[in-house]
Amino acid sequence: MKAVIPAAGLGTRFLPATKAQPKEMLPVFNKPTIQYVVEEAVASGIDDILIITGKGKRSIEDHFDRSFELEFFLKSCGKIDYLVEIEAISDMADIYYVRQKEQKGLGDAILCAQKHVDGDPFAVLLGDTITQHSTPCTKNLIDVYEKYNASAIAIEKVPKDKIERYGIIKGQKVEESVYRIEDMVEKPSLNEAPSDLAITGRYILQPEIFDYLEEVPPGVGGEIQLTDAMRLLDSIYGHVFPGRIYDIGTTLEWLKSSLDMALEDPEVGEEMREYLKQIIK
Ligand code: UTP
Repeated sequence: MKAVIPAAGLGTRFLPATKAQPKEMLPVFNKPTIQYVVEEAVASGIDDILIITGKGKRSIEDHFDRSFELEFFLKSCGKIDYLVEIEAISDMADIYYVRQKEQKGLGDAILCAQKHVDGDPFAVLLGDTITQHSTPCTKNLIDVYEKYNASAIAIEKVPKDKIERYGIIKGQKVEESVYRIEDMVEKPSLNEAPSDLAITGRYILQPEIFDYLEEVPPGVGGEIQLTDAMRLLDSIYGHVFPGRIYDIGTTLEWLKSSLDMALEDPEVGEEMREYLKQIIK
């Protein structure tokens, strides 16, 4: 299975940091966000990855490319650990790129992948969303896709006061953590929300999605919404992801992600914990 990583968005919620650099390249602890996303795809058994880029996103390509000067420098001064780490980034997977010409929404970004996925089911991992769990989120979805032979998306339980920010599903539980989805509503009010289960940033989609993406009318700001197209799929399942999901497109979630990872790090975790205790007093 191939993976598609949409990373062409303008990142307006994170301005001015994203004025001249992609939000997908913002570091979370010690790595750019999109490296975590590529690592999740690879850990799920995927080695063919298409990244949807756009204007001003060249540093993403540079990050996954070889850097001969840097490698030569690290080798010549004996920094072998860094050298191994740097080489591994460019060897992780076969990474391809296509540009979304205009930022017309997530649905339009996925349409740019149509030729590359070539009629097969494919995984989508949002380039600004990091998931953390011993079993990669996308691996769980591949298992659900294989069991039910249908599209599958990751869902998570969200607090009632945050429901209005998400796409929310209506569904029937078919087994522990798995729902057959009957409908999806984008950003409903608390009263209208059919559940507290929100669509997050991971999907396995059947190729029919491309027909529906071409069919659905653009919504607010001329954007083509992926949720509108997914509602037209014959059958779609949701898997409740048991780990932590960070949408680093907002400053607060980005800070939380870096902090959580720093706290888990064997080298700096303890010092960070002490520091937090001091400043919270
Ligand atoms: P978001 O809606 O969170 O990204 O899309 P955005 O449009 O950059 O955010 P704001 O609202 O302006 O801050 C989720 C993912 O889809 C990609 C983004 O790069 C992000 O990884 N995306 C979004 C595209 O590739 N193309 C688009 O037109 C929109």
